[in-house]
Amino acid sequence: MDQDTVGFERTARHDGAVSTATRGPRARFRAMEEGTAEDWAVIAREHVAFSAELPERVLAHLAQLAGSAGGFPVDRLTHCLQTAALAEADGRSDEYVLCALLHDMGDLLAPDNHGALAAAVLRPYVDEELHWMVAHHTVFQGYYYFHFLGGDREARKRYEGHPAFELTAEFCERYDQRAFDPDRPTPPLEHFAPLVRELLARPRRPMGG
Ligand SMILES: [Fe+2]
Ligand SMILES: [Fe+2]
Repeated sequence: MDQDTVGFERTARHDGAVSTATRGPRARFRAMEEGTAEDWAVIAREHVAFSAELPERVLAHLAQLAGSAGGFPVDRLTHCLQTAALAEADGRSDEYVLCALLHDMGDLLAPDNHGALAAAVLRPYVDEELHWMVAHHTVFQGYYYFHFLGGDREARKRYEGHPAFELTAEFCERYDQRAFDPDRPTPPLEHFAPLVRELLARPRRPMGG
């Protein structure tokens, strides 16, 4: 397959305007209905390379939580690190610790819906109950503060009977709500980097699954 076949040269002139574009080969279609097997072979190869970089993108995004406290006693990165460190010290599984580390990663982009964002990132890599736990931790964590803000601290009761109810309540009680201590020694993000790189390299579900 030569460069012209995959559109390499034709797209190069746009690189200045689309700063996030990669310089790799491109498919040729203008609409997906024009797509060919050759196009999709190009995209499939690029997808493998792009997916391999996911752990680094996640780690870079977590690092952006440093310094953002929003009035809390510790910044958002420290909170995530303490949540993960508490879970790790308690002997939780690697998947659980990964969920603890990433549970608030959506704070910057979806502050009022951040559980759903983190759960979407984690879904291919963790079991269904852990995915549910991350998605719903926001309501369960409300047990500790909704009543101070005019809400119902028992809002989580609407999920009573769900198979992951106790798992999620326990996550908030033992780790999430305890991870705001400015005096607690906290491991750096690098401590968890090997775990992030290992688990985000092996999806448990196929695309769309
Ligand atoms: Fe949260
Ligand atoms: Fe949290």
